[in-house]
Amino acid sequence: MIRRRPLGLAVVLVAATALTLPAPATAAGYPYQDPALPVATRVADLLSRMTLDEKIGQMTQAERGAVTASDVATYRLGSLLSGGGSAPTPNTATGWADMYDGFQRGALATPLAIPMIYGVDAVHGHNNVYGATIFPHNIGLGATRDPALVQRIGQAVAEEISGTGVDWDFAPCLCVARNDRWGRTYESFGETPDLPSAMSTLVTGLQGGTLGGPTSVLATAKHYVGDGGTNGGVDQGNTQLGEADLRAIHLPPFQAAVQRGVGAVMISYSSWNGVKLHGNQYLITTVLKGELGFSGFVVSDWNGIDQIDGSAGFTAAEVSTAINAGIDMVMVPTAWKTFISTLRAEVQNGHVPVSRIDDANRRILTKKFELGLFERPYTDRSWTPTVGNAAHRTLARQAVRESQVLLRNTAGILPLAPDNNKIFVAGKNADNIGNQSGGWTISWQGGSGTVTPGTSVLQGIRAAVGPTTTVTYNQRGTGIDRTYRAAVAVVGETPYAEGQGDRAGSMSLDREDLRTIATLRNAGVPVVVVLISGRPLDIAAELPNWTALLASWLPGTEGGGVADVLFGAYAPTGKLPMTWMNSVSQQPINAGDGQVPLFPQGYGLTY
Ligand code: GLC
Repeated sequence: MIRRRPLGLAVVLVAATALTLPAPATAAGYPYQDPALPVATRVADLLSRMTLDEKIGQMTQAERGAVTASDVATYRLGSLLSGGGSAPTPNTATGWADMYDGFQRGALATPLAIPMIYGVDAVHGHNNVYGATIFPHNIGLGATRDPALVQRIGQAVAEEISGTGVDWDFAPCLCVARNDRWGRTYESFGETPDLPSAMSTLVTGLQGGTLGGPTSVLATAKHYVGDGGTNGGVDQGNTQLGEADLRAIHLPPFQAAVQRGVGAVMISYSSWNGVKLHGNQYLITTVLKGELGFSGFVVSDWNGIDQIDGSAGFTAAEVSTAINAGIDMVMVPTAWKTFISTLRAEVQNGHVPVSRIDDANRRILTKKFELGLFERPYTDRSWTPTVGNAAHRTLARQAVRESQVLLRNTAGILPLAPDNNKIFVAGKNADNIGNQSGGWTISWQGGSGTVTPGTSVLQGIRAAVGPTTTVTYNQRGTGIDRTYRAAVAVVGETPYAEGQGDRAGSMSLDREDLRTIATLRNAGVPVVVVLISGRPLDIAAELPNWTALLASWLPGTEGGGVADVLFGAYAPTGKLPMTWMNSVSQQPINAGDGQVPLFPQGYGLTY
């Protein structure tokens, strides 16, 4: 006997069923699989088909070394990342593309076949990949005052990233570095918000005018908000500021990035007035998503949620606090299984509403659809040969040229004559690709030596001179005599990243550099100092003994650009992005603070 329900109830049931069940599959599969449909329609259809575990999987980002492709499938992981220096073997563009495609096959081997999105820190080129073009770090790009150049750099980096399959870049850092003691000062385009705001063109370079182009890579504005304003320049420290100052100094670059359609925002490790940003619902949801209208998704920093309560690891309370604050995807490199089970429990016990889970998924899935990941989930190998190609290195050399800031040039010793000259080159940074590239180069902290193919400053100098000029090199200056017409001392810092670069004490040159310069000076030869550093250094006391000073920052693999300025192939145009201290006791020192610097922000000489 067929149990008939009263018509009214039947109509209600059918209507209710129609409202809750997904639309029937079309010829092209389900509606979410149909690229002809609006993204919002595809997102809604897909979301309606997802289980809670599939939704939580989309919000989970694990490190490549802690998962297999099978894990990606089993746990429905929505995203993977390479931490700094985390590379496949072989560390080649093709090796990366093979790795990426392998993980993607895992993601697609699931009932809904939602592609994963893979993130890297390509912060000055695709810098984890051996052989990639390494561009100047942001502090040098800020010195160029050339947003259009920075956009072209973003496009070039996006081509190299796309050639390895990767589709998400944790860049640009739009931090406003207010204290040069901070180990991430070189990741800042400048100490005032106008410079990082102007250089948000990198977002457009990486993503394209809209997402979804052949080399469109999701950009990330980071680290939201106030990471460069901590007391003492302590990395991951506390930014003690009134809201008006926080908004005036640190928020504008994020507004600029949001206006450019940045797809992701990464939360800062730091605190604002003692409260960790990773748990700050007002700044993340009310201000970033509400007031600024950010429609992309918010990602935590590496184990960032662990810091909310100040103790190691994360608790259920930290998970729910972070998600309810507005974080949509959590970077849990290794503890991703624990995160998944914890968040599931926090949803099931009502601490995290399903509406928040759905909002996070809508944001993440929208970017995946807009990127074209569902239609083109695998590497487009036609871009693989662009990694480290000649065109990108030429662009990088132009960026190096424009980033050089000439701070002193007595007796017009610069430009050096390329012919009929005798030049002595010295310094630990003269012939060292690793030192001139700085942190985030092949490894997280970077390293000295020939870490990747490129042109050292010395090699650039040798290539710039003619056959009638002698160039002699000795790292410590041994062998110099007064027959030399000029000495070039390439000195400064060795690589570091993040907190390992914090300088709480002296910011002077190290003993080796000071001895090298003294050796050159004692020979009675005029000395041109080329400073390879991630920030201004405390050099006022020594400066009167230097004939010239060129701030080179961290130029990357194309050291020929430094030689272009030294020999006048390019007259220097760079301007200081940071105020240059007269003494370390002045830190923090910034434009308009009333202190008298050695060189003001915006200073720079030319020929
Ligand atoms: C790091 C950095 C962040 C980076 C992330 C992933 O700790 O703070 O800038 O994007 O972890 O490597």
